[in-house]
Order: sequence, then structure tokens, then C-alpha cells
Amino acid sequence: MYLKKDNFFYENVVKLEVRHEENHDMKEQLIKEAISAKEKAYVPYSKFPVGAALLTKGGTIYHGCNIENASYGLTNCAERTVIFKALSEGENAFDMLAVTADSERPVPPCGACRQVIAEHCPKDMKVILTNSKGDVQEFTVGDLLPFAFMAGDMHE
Ligand code: THU
Repeated sequence: MYLKKDNFFYENVVKLEVRHEENHDMKEQLIKEAISAKEKAYVPYSKFPVGAALLTKGGTIYHGCNIENASYGLTNCAERTVIFKALSEGENAFDMLAVTADSERPVPPCGACRQVIAEHCPKDMKVILTNSKGDVQEFTVGDLLPFAFMAGDMHE
């Protein structure tokens, strides 16, 4: 009986550690995917490429980059590109987002992207922000946009 109980705890600790490692590996992989997504950035005006990688609950990873326009305001950030790409493929359950740029600090998403992220991703979803120096900062969607305007704020 005692052995069984001990075993039970042991197995659960091992499972937790495995899950922790898997999570760590996935985070590292998502950062790599964001770095490779950055290579596709279309940035003739700012010369500031940004890459994003979005992991779905089903395990698919989407890539996004910023796409600029001669009419500057039409620029689409990497974060919105990746979310729109995934949504347009019928995905709507997301697990983690990684964003990277050649910035001094881990690249902070702009306000517009934070609003779009808040609309489509769970409040407790991890957002990994990085730069090409390898600095990494981790936030949740809720950290990035507290008190977000949401659908439920209308008509009530
Ligand atoms: N940009 C992104 O793609 N994501 C961010 O998080 C910050 C800004 C882009 C928009 C524009 O193409 C360039 O970076 C400079 O603002």
C-alpha cells in the first residue's frame, strides 16, 4: 500500500517534469519558427523585420511576418499576419505565440496587435517576446492588454 502510494507520487512528478520539458522544448521551437518567419518580412520602408509563430491547440505552427506598404498605414504587423493566417485556415484555438525582431529589448507588440491577440487568444495564453540577441521575456495575453475592450462590453 505504502509502495503503491509512493509510486503514484513518483509517477506524477515524472509526468509533470516531462510536461515541463515538453513545454520548454515547444517554447524553444516556437522561437526558432518566429526567427525563420522573420526572413519573409516585407520591410522596404522601416527595414525592421519582425517574425511571429503561432502554435494551435492541435499542434500546428503558423508563421507570420510584417508586410509594409508605400501607403504606410496599410502595414500589417507580424502578429496580426500570423493570427489572420491561422483564422483564415479555420483555426480558432491557440496555445502559444512567439514574436521576434532585431530590437534592443524583446520586441513589444503594438497596441493594435494586442487588441487582436486579446480577441482571438485565451487570456492566460503565453506570449514569448524575443530579440536577435537571445533575450526572452514571457507574458500572458492578459498581461499585455489588461482591461481589454471585448465583445461582451457592447449592448449590455
Ligand atoms: N511591427 C511588427 O510587425 N510587430 C511589432 O510587434 C512591432 C512593429 C512592424 C510594423 C512595421 O512594419 C515595423 O515593425 C516598424 O514599425
